[in-house]
Amino acid sequence: MESSYFCVFKGARLFLSLQILMICFMHKGHTYGVEGKITSRTASISSLLPSPSCSPSTSKASSRKSTLEVIHKHGPCSHIVQGPNPVNHTKLLLQDESRVQWIQSQSSNRGDGLEGSAVARIPARSGITIGTGNYVVTIGLGTPKKDLTLTFDTGSPLTWTQCEPCIGSCYNQSEPLFNPSQSSSYANISCTSTSCSQLGRSGCSGSTCLYFIRYGDQSTTAGFFATEKLTLTPTAVIDNFEFGCGENNQGLFRGAAGLMGLSDDKISIVQQTAAKYGKYFSYCLPSSPSSTGYLTFGKDGGASSSVSFTPLSKIPQGAEFYGISIEGISVGGNRLSIPSTVFSSGGAIIDSGTVITRLPPTAYSAMRDAFRAAMANYTRAPAIGLFDTCYDFSKESTFVVPFITFSFAGGVEVNLDLSGIFYFIKDSQICLAFAANRADSDLGIYGNTQQRTFDVVYDVAGGKLGFGSNGCS
Ligand SMILES: *[C@@H]1O[C@H](CO)[C@@H](O)[C@H](O)[C@H]1NC(C)=O
Ligand SMILES: *[C@@H]1O[C@H](CO)[C@@H](O)[C@H](O)[C@H]1NC(C)=O
Ligand SMILES: *[C@@H]1O[C@H](CO)[C@@H](O)[C@H](O)[C@H]1NC(C)=O
Ligand SMILES: *[C@@H]1O[C@H](CO)[C@@H](O)[C@H](O)[C@H]1NC(C)=O
Repeated sequence: MESSYFCVFKGARLFLSLQILMICFMHKGHTYGVEGKITSRTASISSLLPSPSCSPSTSKASSRKSTLEVIHKHGPCSHIVQGPNPVNHTKLLLQDESRVQWIQSQSSNRGDGLEGSAVARIPARSGITIGTGNYVVTIGLGTPKKDLTLTFDTGSPLTWTQCEPCIGSCYNQSEPLFNPSQSSSYANISCTSTSCSQLGRSGCSGSTCLYFIRYGDQSTTAGFFATEKLTLTPTAVIDNFEFGCGENNQGLFRGAAGLMGLSDDKISIVQQTAAKYGKYFSYCLPSSPSSTGYLTFGKDGGASSSVSFTPLSKIPQGAEFYGISIEGISVGGNRLSIPSTVFSSGGAIIDSGTVITRLPPTAYSAMRDAFRAAMANYTRAPAIGLFDTCYDFSKESTFVVPFITFSFAGGVEVNLDLSGIFYFIKDSQICLAFAANRADSDLGIYGNTQQRTFDVVYDVAGGKLGFGSNGCS
């Protein structure tokens, strides 16, 4: 085999064990604006502490046959072994920044003569990036099937898992490694096949197709491009599913057995299952790591009527990402006066793996200023990492938070859940969970914190993205 595909990537390995402690608010009351419109809600502090135990969401999707349970990798519902380090938000936020820079480097919104823009310095510097997303699903692979927990990622094309005998190396994962020699349904893909040529980076070992993915300067996976029987649920089985059998895997995937690629690309699970599921999937990310959500393939009974749709678009040169158009933001029911060109110059994508939404700086400042004005009666706390607007709620029993509503093209209004507004560091430091890009022309990203509790529907064939409220809790 070609040694270049299986060289061992040395370099600082960063091992993280992070628990995102999110706020579990009690939705106690609402505040009414002058016109009688609900513009804010009252939240209780007593429920701020992250729950140490798992209480799975009883979501309406759980009865659908092609539905997987979505779990936060570092929460109490996860069986993924936590490392020796305690909660470290600094690391998590740095890692998130890394992913954002990687994504922005993949899109065309680079250059523009913007010397200081984030994308110019990537991808070499921080390396961690994509694949480190924090929501996982458990699938079955092979015959007999082996359960494997994969990070799911709308920003990645190929689905892969670590494979024995780990010719290069494998990182520690919670479940036993997948061993293709013990599966009767495993087959290598030929080097001369169309599938092999559809891989961005491929190679050959004899007549066997090899894949290689470098997510950043440290996260990589390489191995055999192969087919297997993929069992999503006992009643949703996909034969001859093309995946990466990773023989050399490095980086921050730690704990999870690999990654499920949900981007809009020929080799992604979305395209591979097009005949069965019509390039249609949806998920709900729970409000906290101590709850669970779902990932469903296909319409299977149809989207609930409460889902409203905005057009999906392609980001030039970042074709696999799901582009969306943000048109405005309201705080406390008031639409901020942000010129539409602020959002359109850089464009935006929705991503399941980016934790914190990145906005054009002009839009971010307007939102932050309005939020600060509405929260003027509360004690501010020091800024941390990406966050410049934090509050000390340690002496409050309840507090009133203005609604934050995103307007997307097509008249879609998404009124964020409370878990999508604040990032909990500790009760004396609770931060507005948004960050600014460096320039308005940088690609915006609608991140997973802001997607919490919504039924997020990807109708890829129909070219639209839906948001439905109360998808999960
Ligand atoms: C968090 O992680 C960073 C990077 O590894 C480290 O420098 C820092 O000391 C950690 N902080 C805490 C509070 O553990
Ligand atoms: C991986 O797991 C093995 C066996 O459980 C353990 O000895 C080793 O220290 C782990 N490595 C890391 C980097 O955590
Ligand atoms: C797949 O290809 C590798 C490398 O050529 C080989 O070692 C392995 O036996 C093959 N597996 C099957 C099931 O053909
Ligand atoms: C702050 O508190 C004062 C006194 O209770 C109240 O009149 C005012 O409306 C509050 N301001 C905001 C922005 O809530």
